[in-house]
Amino acid sequence: MNANISNQLLNQRYQIIRELGRQPGRRTVTALDLETQQQVVVKLLYLGQDFDWQDLKLFERESTILKNLYHPQIPRYLDYFEFDATNDKGFALVQTYIEAQSLEVQLQAGRRFSEDEVKELAKSLLAILEYLHEQQPPIIHRDIKPSNILLTNRSGNSVGEVYLVDFGSVQNIAAQEGGTITVVGTYGYMPPEQFGGRTKPASDLYSLGATLIYIVTGLHPTELPQQDLHIQFRQAVDVSQEFASWLEWMVEPSLEKRFASAKIALAAIENPPARINLVPDSKQLLNKPLQTKIRLIKTPEKLEIILPPTGFGIGLVTLISCLTPIAIGSPFFSQIISNSSAFIGFIVWLLQIGAIAILAFLLLSAINKRTRVQFQSNEMNIINEIFGFTWQSNEEIIPIYDIAQLTVVYDTYETRLKENLFIFNKNNLVFDFDRYSNLTTLEREWLAAEISNWLKLQMR
Ligand SMILES: Nc1ncnc2c1ncn2[C@@H]1O[C@H](COP(=O)(O)OP(=O)(O)O)[C@@H](O)[C@H]1O
Ligand SMILES: [Mg+2]
Repeated sequence: MNANISNQLLNQRYQIIRELGRQPGRRTVTALDLETQQQVVVKLLYLGQDFDWQDLKLFERESTILKNLYHPQIPRYLDYFEFDATNDKGFALVQTYIEAQSLEVQLQAGRRFSEDEVKELAKSLLAILEYLHEQQPPIIHRDIKPSNILLTNRSGNSVGEVYLVDFGSVQNIAAQEGGTITVVGTYGYMPPEQFGGRTKPASDLYSLGATLIYIVTGLHPTELPQQDLHIQFRQAVDVSQEFASWLEWMVEPSLEKRFASAKIALAAIENPPARINLVPDSKQLLNKPLQTKIRLIKTPEKLEIILPPTGFGIGLVTLISCLTPIAIGSPFFSQIISNSSAFIGFIVWLLQIGAIAILAFLLLSAINKRTRVQFQSNEMNIINEIFGFTWQSNEEIIPIYDIAQLTVVYDTYETRLKENLFIFNKNNLVFDFDRYSNLTTLEREWLAAEISNWLKLQMR
């Protein structure tokens, strides 16, 4: 690998202009394509002392992937060739040149961004990630960081055009399934799971979050304090609480708790779910109603609300009165049985057993079914319990970041015009307190204040 390469002609076509970056055994340069008179970018991999087959594998993957990507904010693949000059041998990947400087260079040069601009950048980059993660199989960039993001100057109201470059670390999920694991990425911008070679699309979200934190703090993630793998940046920034929460979800160390996709992250940016590891602010809380049978257990990790059995409501009494005759086998049924085949008799018998089971369940529920509503750091769980036996359906496990709204409203939903306390995610009702218990207005307001406080979610 020659020290001075400017003016060197590659493949009798590309005349090197200047160097953009250099790493052991590799170089990125700009060149003039003599055929088209366009400026292009050439990435060179040298077959020298530093050569490693692993590098060639990634280099070839970079070319193949770039060849199949068509996005206005990603460089276009132009050419690939091997070169064999007197001193230099290697491989070259030619791509379109983007006239913009990297975020790293711009921040070093003193460019600063407002919160709105950072959000604009974030949205634009998330849209690129959405495109990559949507590919079949999904493409994970794995090396999102300030030097791999290019940005033009401000124009009008816009922060500038943003581009994602350097697909030299990409992974498609297919490649990950079998064989060896390669750890690539940049320390400080890599999520914990990537150290173990386990990458998911959400891994790119972490790197993007760390990049945005660098933009708002001016500090590399490694220069910021950490607590249990959480990057502590709030003390170093001047952004809204909401945006800080959103950034925290992006760099959430646990893959399971982080936003699951670029789409979800994008949808949450203006109205992010609250972070809940903060100390509750006791001012807003209401006193526990004196008469309540609801139990509330609060620890730093968990808020648990135990709703007592519902007792016998009109609906339940009606249902029980309808089922009872079937269960006890009224004379009408015995008539049918005595006059017909053994098969019909068997069906009736099954009906009777079924009715007895349902009746038993309804009675037990009314007398003893408790509902435990638990809010933990990452999920909300609804657990049903009768005499110590517990069960839970899939819909009763709700990711905390999904919770978007907490409301006390008149329940027009059921046309009964009854007050109800609801928890909603973006589109749906996820929990409806009054369906599980008969709350009084005082109880409802007390619980609403507690939950709102715990989730740091404003009541509506
Ligand atoms: N298509 C491009 N247009 C303009 N500049 C680019 C382009 N690709 C890369 N660069 C610049 O060159 C630098 C090095 O290229 P990159 O692809 O990141 O190589 P490396 O794998 O060595 O990090 C980048 O940080 C970026 O500033
Ligand atoms: Mg790079």
